[in-house]
Formats: sequence, C-alpha cells, structure tokens
Amino acid sequence: MAAQYLTCDIENKIALVTINRPDKLNALNATVKKEMRDLFEELKTNDDVYVVILTGAGEKSFVAGTDIGELIELDEQSGKEFAKGGRDIFTLIENLGKPVIGAINGFALGGGCELALACTLRIASDTARFGQPEVNLGIIPGYGGTQRLARLVGKGIAHEMILTGNHIDANEAYRIGLVNKVVPQAQLIEEAKSIAATIAKKGQIAIRFALKAVNMTDETNLTEGLELEASLFGKCAATEDSKEGAKAFLEKRKPEFANKF
Ligand code: COA
Repeated sequence: MAAQYLTCDIENKIALVTINRPDKLNALNATVKKEMRDLFEELKTNDDVYVVILTGAGEKSFVAGTDIGELIELDEQSGKEFAKGGRDIFTLIENLGKPVIGAINGFALGGGCELALACTLRIASDTARFGQPEVNLGIIPGYGGTQRLARLVGKGIAHEMILTGNHIDANEAYRIGLVNKVVPQAQLIEEAKSIAATIAKKGQIAIRFALKAVNMTDETNLTEGLELEASLFGKCAATEDSKEGAKAFLEKRKPEFANKF
C-alpha cells in the first residue's frame, strides 16, 4: 500500500525519501514512524539503492519533532516503549549499511534533530534551525538525542542545547560540527544528490565496511576498534573490487566496481 506520509524516488542508485506532512511541519506521528520503519527496512536490502537522501516536504521544516499530541496519554511503561520505538527506527537508519544523507530543509527540532543525528552526514539549508526543546514539554530527548548529540558535538554543547531547549541556526550548527555543510535552500537537494553521486561511484562493499567501522567508534575502545578495522580491511582486500581499484589506478583509468566479494 502506498505510504500516506512518505515519498521515495529512486534514480541512479540514489533514493530520495521525503517526509510529507507539511501541515504539521512533518511531525512524526505513529503512522509516519511505521511508514519510516517499513521503508527503511526495504531500502536496507534494496540492491538498486546505494545512498539515501532524507528530507522534509516544504520549505519550512525538516521534522518539527515527534507528534506532541501523542505524548499526553503516556505513562512510565508506555513512555519507555514510545521512546524505544522511535529510537529503534533511528538506529535502523544509522546502521542501514548504506549512507543516509540528511538534507535539513528547515526546523529540525526534538525528534527532528535526533533524526538528523542518526543520519550519516548532514547538509543544512541556510534556513535550517536545530534544537532539542523537549524540556519545554517536561520531557527529555527519547530517540537517541542525549547520546548522539553528546557524541557528535561534545557534552558541553549537548548539555547547553538540551537543558536550555534553545534553537540554533544553520551557521551555528556548522560551527559546532552538527552539520557538514550549509547551502542556500534552493541548492539543498542538488548538493545532497551531488554528494550521494560521489559516494555511489565508489566500491559499495568498501562503503559498507567503512560505515560499519566508523559507526563502531561509539561502541568500542580504541584497541577493539583497530582490530575491527583490520578485519574489515582484510575483507575488503579479498574483494574483486579491491583488485579492480588497484588495477584501474595502475592502468590510469576509472575503476568499474562490480560490488561483489
Ligand atoms: N507535533 C505536533 N504538531 C506540531 C508539531 C509537533 N512537534 N510541531 C508543529 N506542529 C503543528 C502545529 O500544532 C501547527 O498545527 P495547526 O496548524 O493544526 O495548529 C502546525 O504544525 C504549524 O506549526 P506552528 O506552531 O503554527 O508554526 P510556527 O511557525 O508558529 O512555529 C515551531 C514553528 C516549529 C517553532 C513550533 O511549531 C514548535 O515549537 N513546534 C514544536 C517543536 C517541539 O517542541 N518539538 C519537540 C517535540 S518532543
């Protein structure tokens, strides 16, 4: 069945996913979240997709958070399940096995900021605004924000954003390392597509292992991480792609990766 709140256009190995609920600033209600889970599970195993771009419909908002109307009835147990449900979708995105580029086109607040944080990298329009305003509602970030924000920008800034609930603009987000790049709104999707196209040309096994190795820095100490890196390097070295990559360099031509072991 077609999704109510998501669109997905696949072209040249790049999937452009748009959260499409602009009248509510693309807030994540239960239906949006279920559709996101279903779609990303499909994209994970879709061999026709090497890179995903994730954005919000309209010029105003990427995602203005989880749907606040759904918070009122929660108690301790259902609140925990609610947080875990959203968190698991964002973890699926973070560990998709292929890069997800967040194209942040406006408000990225609460769950919207957390969704951006779960992306592999983030390109912001110059109109984007970021924040974790949950404390204004008497709650804390529940979809990974306390953990991913602190890991990305450091505890001091994470504390400041989460404890004050203040919004920051795109340039400030760039300054603190929350986004990789800021571009004019009109160029946002083109810029994201250009980065996606660059990645899509590489050997995709190497991309998958590189993602895995870097993502594991959150889980491992340095010694374990270096061990994992060596194992994954070995797996890459055994691929047809690695032979083709080296041969193409020596023959002064562009590689043609088969993306096969
Ligand atoms: N959940 C549910 N609905 C939301 C929403 C959210 N997180 N964020 C925005 N909306 C809805 C508004 O209720 C409004 O709906 P309505 O037209 O039916 O009244 C519509 O989206 C437009 O939002 P509005 O507040 O009128 O736009 P604005 O330009 O005045 O303000 C924001 C924009 C983003 C500053 C403001 O909507 C806001 O603070 N949203 C909540 C952000 C938040 O706290 N997120 C974390 C949730 S845990």
